[in-house]
Amino acid sequence: MNEKILILDFGSQYTQLIARRIRELYVYSEIVPFNKIPELDDSIKGVILSGSPFSVKDENALHTDLSKVIGKRPVLGICYGAQYIAQSYGGKVERSLKREYGKANLSRLYKEEDPFLKVIPEDSQVWMSHGDTIMEVPEQFEVLAGTAHIDVAAYRSRKGAFEHPVYGIQFHPEVSHSLDGMHFLRNFVKDIAGCHSEWTPAAFVEETVTALKQQIGKDHVLMGLSGGVDSTVAASLLHEAIGDNLVCIFVDNGLLRKDEYEEVLHSYKDMGLRVVGVDAKEAFYSELQGISDPEEKRKVIGRVFIETFEREALKLEEEDRDIHWLGQGTIYPDVIESVSVHGPSVTIKSHHNVGGLPEKLKLKIVEPLRMLFKDEVRLVGKELAVPQHILNRHPFPGPGLGIRILGDVTPDKVKMLQEADAIYINNLRKFGLYDKVWQAGTILLPIQSVGVMGDERTYEKTVALRAVDSRDGMTAEWSRLPHDFLATVSSEIINNVKGINRVVYDISTKPPSTIEWE
Ligand code: XMP
Repeated sequence: MNEKILILDFGSQYTQLIARRIRELYVYSEIVPFNKIPELDDSIKGVILSGSPFSVKDENALHTDLSKVIGKRPVLGICYGAQYIAQSYGGKVERSLKREYGKANLSRLYKEEDPFLKVIPEDSQVWMSHGDTIMEVPEQFEVLAGTAHIDVAAYRSRKGAFEHPVYGIQFHPEVSHSLDGMHFLRNFVKDIAGCHSEWTPAAFVEETVTALKQQIGKDHVLMGLSGGVDSTVAASLLHEAIGDNLVCIFVDNGLLRKDEYEEVLHSYKDMGLRVVGVDAKEAFYSELQGISDPEEKRKVIGRVFIETFEREALKLEEEDRDIHWLGQGTIYPDVIESVSVHGPSVTIKSHHNVGGLPEKLKLKIVEPLRMLFKDEVRLVGKELAVPQHILNRHPFPGPGLGIRILGDVTPDKVKMLQEADAIYINNLRKFGLYDKVWQAGTILLPIQSVGVMGDERTYEKTVALRAVDSRDGMTAEWSRLPHDFLATVSSEIINNVKGINRVVYDISTKPPSTIEWE
C-alpha cells in the first residue's frame, strides 16, 4: 500500500472503528499498539492516537515516545490521545468529577478557515466520552472549538510550532452520533495528511494478486474451505494469482446445514476452483458418539477435522509434489495486536478453525485477507465475482450443528435439526428477513415435553430459534422478528419435522448470553 494512516492504539473500544472509518474513505489504515511505533517510512502519511479507558492522570497511564511522531507527520489525537498530547507539552488536564458522556454541540468554532473545520457547521453534534478534561492547551497550541460545557473540544498546534500540524479532539468522530465525524476524519486524512483515495477493492485485488504471485511463484497451495465468506474470498484471490496451483479441500463433517455440502461444492466448481470434496460424516459421528460436554465436542470436532484434512493433504501431496503453502482465510480483527486492558482474555469457548495444521504438515502460511475487515472482504469478494449467495451468508460456526444440538450428537438428531433449520432459513428468505438479521439458526434442545397432535398425546423435542443483530459477533441483540413470521415457522416445523412438538424463540442478548448455545 502506497499511503496509509497509522493508528496508535491506547486500548479504546473504538480503535477498530477509527480504522474502519478511514478505510471507508478508501484510505488504508493500520493499527499498532501505542508503544510499538514503527519507523515512519514514506507510506505513513499521518498518525492518529486513539482513546483509552485509562486517564492521563492514572499512575499506570499509558506512555509512548511522542517525539517519534509529533513534528514528523500530521498527528490527530482523539480523546485520551488529545489529552495525552496536551499534558505532555505542558497544557493542563484535569480529572472531571463526572464523566462527560453523550451528545454535545460544537457551539464555538474559533478558526473556521482551518482545514480541519472545513464544512463543519456551527453547533455540529459530536459524541463525548471522557473522564479527563483539557483545561488549557500548551503554549504552542490554540483552541479550535468548544462546547457549552468544555472550552477545549478541539485544538491544533500553532502554525510553525512543529514541522507538521498536530490536532486534538475530545470527542469521538468515528461513532455515528458525531454527525460530522466523517468530515473531520476526511479533513484530517485527505486535506491535512494528503492521502488519496487509493484503497479500493479493485486496487487491493490488483496489488494482492501481484504480491501473491511473487510470494508463491510456481509452488502449490493447499486450502481448506468452509463454505463461508472468508475462506471463499481468500481462495478466489489465490486462484486469481496462481490458477490451478491452488488445491482446495471441502470436508463434509455431517454437521452442515441441509444440502449445504452439495450446494457449496457446486458453487465452488462453478467458480473454477479445484476442490476435493471429502465425505467424512461417519468419522465425525462415530467420534462424537456419547459426548455431551460442549468443550469436549468442540475439541473432538477440531481434532477429527485436522485428521481428515491431514489425510487428504498427504494424498494430494503425493500427486502434487510441490505443495509448500497452506492458505488461510484469517482476517484483520484476528491479527490486530490490540492493547488488552483487561489482561489476556479468558477462553469462553474454544473456537476452532484450522489451527494446529501447519506444524504437522510443514507448510508455510499464506493469508491474503489478513489486513481486511469483514465488510472489506465482502467488497473484495464482489470485485472477484464471488456469487452473492456466498458473500451474504450468515456466519456459521466451524463445529456447525454439533454445537447446536445440546447433549450428544447422533445422525438422527442432525437430520431433525437440518429439517427445522431449513424451514427457518427458507422462511427468512421468503419474508425478506435473511439479509436484515446478522445471523440465524436453530438449536435442538435435550428435553421433551408433552403436546397433542390430532387425538394423540405426544412427548417430543423442542427447537429454539435464534436470530441476532450484530456488527461483529462480539455483542448481539436478539432480532425483533415479526410475530407472523415466527408463527409460520413454528407451525411449519411442528407440522413437518417428525419428533418436534414445540418451538421457542431465544430473546437473550450477548452479553450476558452468547450467540451459540454451546
Ligand atoms: P458466540 O457463541 O461466541 O459466537 O457468541 C460468536 C460468533 O462466533 C461464531 N462461532 C464460531 N465460529 N468456530 C467458528 O468459526 C467456532 O468454533 C465458533 N463458535 C462460535 C458464532 O456462530 C457467532 O457468529
